[in-house]
Amino acid sequence: MKTSRITGAGHYLPERIVTNDDLAGMMDTNHEWIVERTGIEERRWFTPGKDTVNSMAVAASKRAITQAGIRTEEIEFIIFATITPDYFIPGNGVLLQRELGLQGIGALDIRNACSGFIYALSIADQYIKSGMYATVLVVGAEIQSSALDKSNEGRSSAVIFADGAGAVIVQSSNKPGHGILSTHLHADGDFAEELYVKDPGSSRAVRISPEMIEDGSLNLKMNGNTVFKHAIVRFYEVIMEALAANQKDVSAINLLIPHQANLRISQAIQHKLNLPDDKVFNNITKYGNTTAATIPIAISEAWEQGRIKEGDLVCLAAFGSGFAWGSALIRW
Ligand code: UT7
Repeated sequence: MKTSRITGAGHYLPERIVTNDDLAGMMDTNHEWIVERTGIEERRWFTPGKDTVNSMAVAASKRAITQAGIRTEEIEFIIFATITPDYFIPGNGVLLQRELGLQGIGALDIRNACSGFIYALSIADQYIKSGMYATVLVVGAEIQSSALDKSNEGRSSAVIFADGAGAVIVQSSNKPGHGILSTHLHADGDFAEELYVKDPGSSRAVRISPEMIEDGSLNLKMNGNTVFKHAIVRFYEVIMEALAANQKDVSAINLLIPHQANLRISQAIQHKLNLPDDKVFNNITKYGNTTAATIPIAISEAWEQGRIKEGDLVCLAAFGSGFAWGSALIRW
């Protein structure tokens, strides 16, 4: 039976660094509050006219292609996870396909927010295991900063979310026991409005109106407390589900890469699992929460820094808007 392996990863962060002090100049907040509640010290925001979701995805993908040591033409399918596409229609997959010169291959967009990359990876895994494709490009890329309410009202989300892109190449392999061992996906739509951007929705009389701008319904809205409480429970459950499905104990994990939602969430999970610091990867302090991009950016950095080595057991886990959550257990 074929398995799917991640053979390359790459990431791109926009150049513009936004510090907590910069935010304190836009809204009523301060460095101490942000660090204490979220762990974030700075984040990257895109530069309009320079960065797009697609340009960042292209840069991340090119690095992943180089690391995998493949020719771009070997990619047979693209899966693009984003909730902040460059256009309302079409999705970003086709824009990436065009830019990479891969006209003709399929390109799929995934809109599962913070869990988008794990949903996308799971799809790539199934396509590869079924024999449909041998090489798939999976991307997570977001520009959140342009949908943040930077007034006092929106400050709890505005200090967290940020921009960036990550990509991986997933390929079929015959190496037994290696690759993506399992993925587990979940959702609970009862909580859809706990973290959402309401407009421009299709079911209103007009897609965009002055009232929407006035009411802030074009901005991201989050009930942070509810999200936080559910995140801690679901992260733990879905990691334990992955371990149980593969008859593994927590101690077998070499590296846990949680979605970078809030450093306090990652630390709470680490504590619950009783994992030492060197077995949990965090880069939220530098980049904030880049939604679907956090996990591929983290994979790329962890690999680059030698924190992931051949044969390691790596666990990915995410929770976010939907609510949707998931995990992937990978023997590298
Ligand atoms: O990506 C996946 C989904 N997202 C998440 O997983 C995020 C989950 N939630 C969180 O990370 C946290 O809930 C936040 C960081 C968003 C907020 O932290 P919190 O500890 O839950 O704060 P809170 O919303 O309960 O607010 C506590 C206080 C409030 O003041 P009062 O009412 O106690 O006087 C807020 O008004 O902190 C105030 N506050 C702020 N103060 C300074 C809220 N945001 C800020 C801010 N700066 N940016």
